[in-house]
Amino acid sequence: MFITGKVAIVTGGVSGIGFDYATELLKNGLKAVTLADTDDAKGEEAVAKISNDFGGDKVLFVKTDVTIKEQFDNAFKQTVDKFGNIDILVNNAGILMESIWEKMMAINVGCFLAMEEYFPKYKSGDEAVIVNISSIAGFEAASVVPVYVATKHAVVGFSRSISTPDQYESSRTRIVTICPGATDTPMMQEWVRKALNDRYRELTKTFVEVMTYPMQTTGAVAKALVKAIEEGGNGSMWCVEDSEIFELVLPSRLDMRKK
Ligand SMILES: NC(=O)c1ccc[n+]([C@@H]2O[C@H](COP(=O)([O-])OP(=O)(O)OC[C@H]3O[C@@H](n4cnc5c(N)ncnc54)[C@H](O)[C@@H]3O)[C@@H](O)[C@H]2O)c1
Repeated sequence: MFITGKVAIVTGGVSGIGFDYATELLKNGLKAVTLADTDDAKGEEAVAKISNDFGGDKVLFVKTDVTIKEQFDNAFKQTVDKFGNIDILVNNAGILMESIWEKMMAINVGCFLAMEEYFPKYKSGDEAVIVNISSIAGFEAASVVPVYVATKHAVVGFSRSISTPDQYESSRTRIVTICPGATDTPMMQEWVRKALNDRYRELTKTFVEVMTYPMQTTGAVAKALVKAIEEGGNGSMWCVEDSEIFELVLPSRLDMRKK
């Protein structure tokens, strides 16, 4: 089992799916987890809950805005100071607010610190793992959230590029990507009122009326994380929708050529 005895950072780990990622990893033998998140009130609650369920030596909260390199770096530093190693990065922090689209563009790509600086020095085994969180929006259009869709497509392209065989050969970092479908979290409860402007609010009303995405629990997505880490090959992409997990195989551009 890859997860057993390893140390992970989960960004956006104090609420929503991220909190369940952290606890599911601990249930599966993780040595310790750092929750790197901007929300310190929820951070305290999350640490109390995890300490109660798994022990106080298993968890650390580091107030981190992952769009600020120094803060992300500090989360890595504190992790290796406290737990000795770092083996898994779950890049989960995300927002769905078209009205602050500049921030959304900055939030999704945070792998370089792990691959270039911390994994080479501090991974405990031969291989480290990055899990990037995209979405079904990484493969589909959605008229009402174009920037969100763009950032999730970016996660797919970025993950594909850092998981090519030559990358793996030199980085020894396995990249897996998870693409959840609609999941019941604070993000899903709030996104409608955070539309870009009145025109988007109107579009959103219609979109929500005809929306047919089945809503799943955070627990179902967290199970997919464990499966992807334990069974996923380098570069693999996993969809989890309506609690069903399945691997995606992307077509080449030649397969997509119009016949
Ligand atoms: N909920 C869904 O339906 C769904 C579907 C597909 C993909 N996702 C993706 O899953 C991830 C988690 O989503 P969620 O629904 O649990 O959201 P959430 O809003 O419930 O939780 C997101 C967490 O990220 C933190 N965060 C936000 N910006 C941050 C930053 N700059 N630095 C550090 N932490 C930050 C928040 O404080 C929060 O704790 C996101 O990447 C999201 O895009 C969600």
